[in-house]
Amino acid sequence: MAFTIAIDGPAAAGKGTVSKAVAAYFGFAHLDTGLLYRATGRRTLDGTDPVEAANSLQAADLEAGDLRTPEVAQAASRVAADPEVRQALVDFQRAFARRAGGAVLDGRDIGTVICPEAEVKLFVTASDDIRAERRFKELTEGGHDVSYDEVLADLRARDARDSARAAAPLKPAEDAVQLDTSRMSIEEAVAAAISEVEARR
Ligand code: C5P
Repeated sequence: MAFTIAIDGPAAAGKGTVSKAVAAYFGFAHLDTGLLYRATGRRTLDGTDPVEAANSLQAADLEAGDLRTPEVAQAASRVAADPEVRQALVDFQRAFARRAGGAVLDGRDIGTVICPEAEVKLFVTASDDIRAERRFKELTEGGHDVSYDEVLADLRARDARDSARAAAPLKPAEDAVQLDTSRMSIEEAVAAAISEVEARR
């Protein structure tokens, strides 16, 4: 039976880590919807039209090696403000969400727009400093040459653009459970998310 878990929140709040762990725990499939926007944004860097890029996304585009760079993140957030780009990606996400066996989708608008009927909705947050620290560590460990200040500025610029846009802005669904991970270890955040799911199964 289909069972959908929607996990939204700002950049680097811990959504990805929590989503992966929750999906593994329940044996559900996981879709990082940010990858769809990153892959679309990445294709526009060489001049491809954003709507065309979104309409012709291939599975292989989601495996490109450089999707995690700050440059691609900014391009993602720019194309994500275009309602036509968002529309092009809706069907794929909804089909994924309703697959038999359960699904976890993480992003910005999963609980509000993509899956308003999701059985569980979480909105994962953390303070700006903590998010920047986590993303800085992730990027430098991955060999990217960035400064902490750059990372913080990047997160703030994306959050501002993602929250202010008219099409599917970043905001918690009215029935979402908020999970502030600022003072939580990964294990604590995952345990808290699992117990929210257990309570609704
Ligand atoms: O989650 P991630 O940081 O990979 O997302 C990259 C960008 O893609 C976000 O800043 C946002 O603009 C966009 N996005 C979105 N809706 C989603 C997922 C990501 O608009 N569901």
